[in-house]
Amino acid sequence: MGACRINPSILSADFVNLERELERIGAADAVHVDVMDNHFVPNLTLGQPVVKRIQEVSGLPLDVHLMIEDADRWAPAYAELGAASVTFHAEAAAAPVRLARELRAGGAQAGMALRPATSVEPYLDMLGELDLLLIMTVEPGFGGQSFLDLTLPKIRRAAEAVRGGSLPLAIQVDGGITEETILRAAEAGATVFVAGSSVYGAEDPGQAIDRLRLAAEA
Ligand code: DX5
Ligand code: ZN
Repeated sequence: MGACRINPSILSADFVNLERELERIGAADAVHVDVMDNHFVPNLTLGQPVVKRIQEVSGLPLDVHLMIEDADRWAPAYAELGAASVTFHAEAAAAPVRLARELRAGGAQAGMALRPATSVEPYLDMLGELDLLLIMTVEPGFGGQSFLDLTLPKIRRAAEAVRGGSLPLAIQVDGGITEETILRAAEAGATVFVAGSSVYGAEDPGQAIDRLRLAAEA
């Protein structure tokens, strides 16, 4: 099934011991950081000062997932502070093409996320502007929810468009990724997997990452 990337989400980590929690996922490909504003989603996490410190202490690339309103205004700052990729929600961006270009100009990979009920069709023409398409496999806002199989056709549709256009775009899934669900997402065409509770809920997060990798490539 080809190389897959596992990006643990620190949403399920111990927030008062972030440095130690980052060390526990050394075997990961990147660290997924969920920024929530209590408006786009009914939950509040962290913002620029904390993301900046994570960037300074973590040896892993930062994969920032912005679940915030008014992404056009706030997203570029996360590129400036050194995130490897910055993903905004299509539903929260007034000018997604302009924003993606701004993120790339700021030195980050440009990512765009779709909620489970948002269709990929209106965005197919702009996939060339993106480095990452995040297909949410739960409603954003909380860790520990169950994978939504209704998102599989959208993953397939996006993967088809990527193959058809020979685009260098990664398809990421986020939400409910476990050893049991990861293969379904991988077979549909996802290549980057965000996992919160299945990594941090395990006794040994490093082993959990290895098990997810194996399960995705089964
Ligand atoms: C949810 C976040 C996810 C979350 C996933 O809105 O975007 O990154 O941490 O958690 P799990 O893997 O537990 O579903
Ligand atoms: Zn996320």
